[in-house]
Amino acid sequence: MKVYFDNAATTPVIPEVVQAMLPVLQSQFGNPSSIHSFGRETRSAIETARKKVASILKAAPAEIFFTSGGTEADNMAIRCAVHDLGIRHIITSSLEHHAVLHTAEDIAQRGEVKLSLVKTDEKGHVDLDHLDQLLRDNERSLVSLMHANNEIATLLPLAKVSEICRRHNALFHSDTVQTIGHYPIDLSALDIDFITGAAHKFHGPKGIGFLYINGKVKIHPFITGGAQERNMRGGTENVYGIVGLAKALEIADEKMTSDIQQVSALKNYMIASLQNEIPGVKFNGDITAEGSLYTVLNVSFPPTEHAEMLLFNLDIAGIACSSGSACSSGSNVGSHVLKGIGADPDRPAIRFSFSRYNTRDEVDFCIERLKELFAVKV
Ligand SMILES: Cc1ncc(COP(=O)(O)O)c(C=O)c1O
Repeated sequence: MKVYFDNAATTPVIPEVVQAMLPVLQSQFGNPSSIHSFGRETRSAIETARKKVASILKAAPAEIFFTSGGTEADNMAIRCAVHDLGIRHIITSSLEHHAVLHTAEDIAQRGEVKLSLVKTDEKGHVDLDHLDQLLRDNERSLVSLMHANNEIATLLPLAKVSEICRRHNALFHSDTVQTIGHYPIDLSALDIDFITGAAHKFHGPKGIGFLYINGKVKIHPFITGGAQERNMRGGTENVYGIVGLAKALEIADEKMTSDIQQVSALKNYMIASLQNEIPGVKFNGDITAEGSLYTVLNVSFPPTEHAEMLLFNLDIAGIACSSGSACSSGSNVGSHVLKGIGADPDRPAIRFSFSRYNTRDEVDFCIERLKELFAVKV
């Protein structure tokens, strides 16, 4: 048996998405900027996709900008807010994805902004009183806080944070890369300036994402060049990626209610099985249904002599999971998120992340392998 429990790193592209992309790969090859019929055909595919994404998120099509993924969208939001909107202070947290954290640090190191890190607790929840205080003490700020943490699953109360930001006339960006396609997001009800998405986190292709920019916010182009993406991001569009993203989001939206039910139940089953079968396991981050992303479970195992071998041994047993953020795996650097919540460094931590394609049999299989590994003192 081969088990894929690394859906927070990326998800498999589903056949319906491949089917939607195929015509664009096979025959609809016109450059969308060309005015002839070949170009108009692909232009129309892009604009249909934009309308679909906008309608699912209850935004206007003109507020959706396609990018090469989550990282670029995060960069665009943060860097443009600083360069074009007079931001001199960024507030983020030490638990953010590096797409946000390294971007904010880079701008601060260049002396363009002051950087403040809002306090977070041992489960990764943001201290909203501290956020309020940081906003009170500083001039116009950009708050960049992720909706769901990609390593420990802890959720941010978006509406509450938005309300605090508005009270202080601050801009609000949320990295929603792990939650787009997994939770209903209604931008007509949520007052936010920027959110970001990446298709490969909801069964779409890699290398395509989007940035939502609230219509009230006006920024200059992030990538200069041609007039693509209404002059905001030059470069010939990734047409098949855009078509695939919209199809993947449409399917994710249709299946959302059943996915939430099914995947949450699977996560709870994994929690209960681990508690019953592996003495001494602990969970990192919030694991409650209301407080955590239902696709992600971060587990600290009892200290073992060969902790670094755990991920490797699971891989040998056919189980793919992650030791933290996939982006830092292989670089031999411990997780900044686990460090940030004060997780015990002597306990090996594994992130299991699920999709609708995972089953209880796979959880059982994983638990059996873990029991074997811990019985022989990994
Ligand atoms: C929370 C979060 N933000 C941003 C990214 C980066 O997205 P992409 O890989 O599409 O650049 C990821 C992907 O790991 C993520 O989990």
